[in-house]
Amino acid sequence: MSESNEIHRYLKQTGELFGDELYIDPEIVTADDPGPALKSFYNQIKNCTQCSLGTTRDQFVFGVGDPNASLLLVGEAPGAEEDRLGEPFVGRAGKLLDKILAAIHRSREKDVYICNVMKCRPPNNRDPLSSEVMSCEPYLWRQIDLIRPGLIVALGRVAGTTLLKKENEALKNLRGKIHDYHGTPLIVTYHPAALLRNSNLKPAAWEDFQWIESILEGV
Ligand code: URA
Repeated sequence: MSESNEIHRYLKQTGELFGDELYIDPEIVTADDPGPALKSFYNQIKNCTQCSLGTTRDQFVFGVGDPNASLLLVGEAPGAEEDRLGEPFVGRAGKLLDKILAAIHRSREKDVYICNVMKCRPPNNRDPLSSEVMSCEPYLWRQIDLIRPGLIVALGRVAGTTLLKKENEALKNLRGKIHDYHGTPLIVTYHPAALLRNSNLKPAAWEDFQWIESILEGV
């Protein structure tokens, strides 16, 4: 999709949220601390029914972490536990993610923000449909505008291919490169659930996270 189409989609969606007037949140313009603006954005979108997942979800899973984070982790979509608790990565994969973050001297409260491309759980954890991604991805753009991370890390092939619009690309072709996501550097690595399924992948994931830590030292 071209940049002008994406801008059009973003404006269409803010129009649906705020009406015909161009809405500029004063907190975005003035605040050094994006926390209040993120919270206000959450309140604006938490009852979203732009796609059918709005009717099947239990909870809207906005994101969690430090609003001033230099590292933004983006997963695919909430699973059953996340849908139940309203927080991303709280199941087994999330526990592993917490350990990985501790190993790079961070936590979900400290210099990290965690969210998903999709804010609502697709039934039976199916992959999100492209129409659902089209509706939901502008929310992520707004989160990025507010948080202004130095680096985005896409967790897993689905998050990576969805964000980079490289449908059917293998994870191995996306790893090990610094991509550009709307002006912010983006790296793709393994989803922690994949590391739970196949522990042979752990050394390569650990290399990725050491690389991520070294990049963050420079941002
Ligand atoms: N998998 C994801 O991609 N996101 C979550 O929040 C949980 C599991």
